Amino acid sequence: MDVERVQSIASLSNIHHTINTIPSEFIRSENEQPAATTIHGVVLEVPVIDIGADNSDEEKVVSMIMEASRDWGIFQVVNHGIPNDLISKFQKVGKEFFELPEEVKGLIAKTPESGIEGYGTSLQKEVEGKKGWVDHLFHKIWPPSAINYKFWPKNPPTYREVNEEYAEKIREVSDKLIKWLSLGLGLEEHEMKVAMGGENTIYMMKINYYPPCPRPDLALGVVAHTDMSLLTILVPNEVQGLQVFRDDHWYDVKYIPNALIIHIGDQVEILSNGKYKAVYHRTTVNKENTRMSWPVFLEPNPEFEIGPIPKLITQENPSKYKTKKYKDYSYCKLNKLPQ
Ligand code: SIN
Ligand code: FE2
Repeated sequence: MDVERVQSIASLSNIHHTINTIPSEFIRSENEQPAATTIHGVVLEVPVIDIGADNSDEEKVVSMIMEASRDWGIFQVVNHGIPNDLISKFQKVGKEFFELPEEVKGLIAKTPESGIEGYGTSLQKEVEGKKGWVDHLFHKIWPPSAINYKFWPKNPPTYREVNEEYAEKIREVSDKLIKWLSLGLGLEEHEMKVAMGGENTIYMMKINYYPPCPRPDLALGVVAHTDMSLLTILVPNEVQGLQVFRDDHWYDVKYIPNALIIHIGDQVEILSNGKYKAVYHRTTVNKENTRMSWPVFLEPNPEFEIGPIPKLITQENPSKYKTKKYKDYSYCKLNKLPQ
């Protein structure tokens, strides 16, 4: 299948020195264009939570995570236990994959039949047929029974080993976060994990590759959305680009080196019956530099039903969301149908 990659479009515009134009399908409508809709000169400091402290401080961590999930839907964690050099190695192998020739990356390209996993460029029709300035790679990293190694890069050769190590560490962090999110709802520590589907939760890796863009004022990387996952755990490279919608405006998010960025996704909002809020976010692109990001999405098994946790439903706080299988939720979301 011949798909035009954003990376090829970007390198063509570089060769032809068409430095001030991009194809019209990348030009956003005026109410979306970053130059017109971003509050400039301010970076938003989302909550930063130190999760490395000993157990005596657990109550404080729980209340900080609860408040950040309720008031922001996004926070960063530091002292998370993933060594900085593992994060660097992990980012390096992902970058090296995207720098391979197109025909090599094409070996693990997704096809209309292969589902979401693989190397690709979003073909999903957005409003007015617009496109995001980004290519991507998706592959599951956990549980082992769900992994399809055919969608993992073979090159660089250390890709697999490094990603397996990262997956293990991400699971340790996410188990802690899920426990604290549970306690933050006044539940017992295991209840949230059970309501998510326990050990059947799928960890889906995505790499976003945003090449330099001649018109970062007009294009977007990823259009505004909330993640439909339970939770997302993300590391970006050093190029600014993640924006959050707050008080009716878009802001750049301040990065903390080596922090993990945590997004509350739709499924945790639903499980919490609306106490925790999925964060509305988007990404911008850069004129000179390639931006990359590595989100890991924690997703329920497609057949698993997600709805508000029964204990959280009371007369004063009735159920705000339907209970449905994750596959039905994602079908409606991807096809822009009502939930
Ligand atoms: C996304 O939200 O899909 C991407 C986030 C990022 O690139 O930082
Ligand atoms: Fe997202």
